[in-house]
Amino acid sequence: MIQKIAVIKGDGIGPEIVSESMKVLNAIAQKYGHTFLFTEVLMGGCSIDAYGEPLTEETISVCKDSHAVLMGSIGGNTTTSPWYQLPAHLRPEAGLLRLRKELGLFANLRPCVLYPELRSACTLREDISSKSFDMLIMRELTGGLYFGERRTEAVDGVMTAVDTLTYNENEIRRIGIKAFEVAMKRNKKVTSVDKANVLDSSRLWRKVMNEVAKDYPEVTLEHALVDSTAMQIVRDPSRFDVMVTENMFGDILSDEAAMVTGSLGMLPSASLNETKFGLYEPSGGSAPDIAGKNVANPIAAILSGAMLLRYSCDLQTEADAIEAAVKQVLAEGYRTADIMSEGCRQVSCSEMGSLIAERV
Ligand code: IPM
Ligand code: MN
Repeated sequence: MIQKIAVIKGDGIGPEIVSESMKVLNAIAQKYGHTFLFTEVLMGGCSIDAYGEPLTEETISVCKDSHAVLMGSIGGNTTTSPWYQLPAHLRPEAGLLRLRKELGLFANLRPCVLYPELRSACTLREDISSKSFDMLIMRELTGGLYFGERRTEAVDGVMTAVDTLTYNENEIRRIGIKAFEVAMKRNKKVTSVDKANVLDSSRLWRKVMNEVAKDYPEVTLEHALVDSTAMQIVRDPSRFDVMVTENMFGDILSDEAAMVTGSLGMLPSASLNETKFGLYEPSGGSAPDIAGKNVANPIAAILSGAMLLRYSCDLQTEADAIEAAVKQVLAEGYRTADIMSEGCRQVSCSEMGSLIAERV
């Protein structure tokens, strides 16, 4: 199989972790007789440095012309990097948001799994972490506060900022359907997270989720408020299977859920549109403080590669092989610094990539 993959390494640790993901994908290509044609393009801070804007038409068109996009991370230190002196629409994040919109990537899947080997890296008490957990956060990605009208202006001499949270029923329905579809392939439980005790957008969200649920009688739907959900994630994460929520709530809850699994460096994500096309990136950020030191954890990027094969290329066996290789290196005791614990062997970012590539 020949697949065209656009690669956005991005900023911070992005280049080093994506290189390891490509190393593993190349090992898969060799072993299973595929050809992955990688085209590297810029986005984020590196694109600002090269072209004065975070996202160029060239990058958009290379992505659109590919089967999938493999991404690292973008952005820098928001207090010290000169990128954050620029007007908001020229900052690194603006590039990512526009790319999500241009590619129609409305469904963001963030699986949060606690690997048994990493229990000691879990930030929760042992009686909680000893119950393994495996949840999938389905975050709406192209609506809500992120894409609503916004402005900052003086109102009667007082500086006032406005951000708008808008959802229409169609946007809610399509993400709801995605959530129920994946729940059918998992434990058939959906938790829809909102703030329906305050927000109109949440009340509509709840109504539409109830309508979607009628088409999936085998799936149990529960509604939960976002504040209470934030609490439940640290109290008993094992109670969740699929969680579906709007853009901003999903951004916050997914970092929380990720950390509960031990490290942000472990978790991949997939952003999908209505077709098989998708963009795959680690859930964590660009970690500028450790960039270029070869100490970052490449596993999230490597598992993002597995998701790419599974969702965009229909290569299930190959995706399984990557996931099994990751489990194997963890079982063998290899750890990057972020997940290091006693009795394990600490390895660098590139060593971790090689160890996994050798085992696929
Ligand atoms: C994420 C990131 C982005 C987001 C930023 C970089 C714009 O935090 O993918 O979760 O908020 O969506
Ligand atoms: Mn985030």
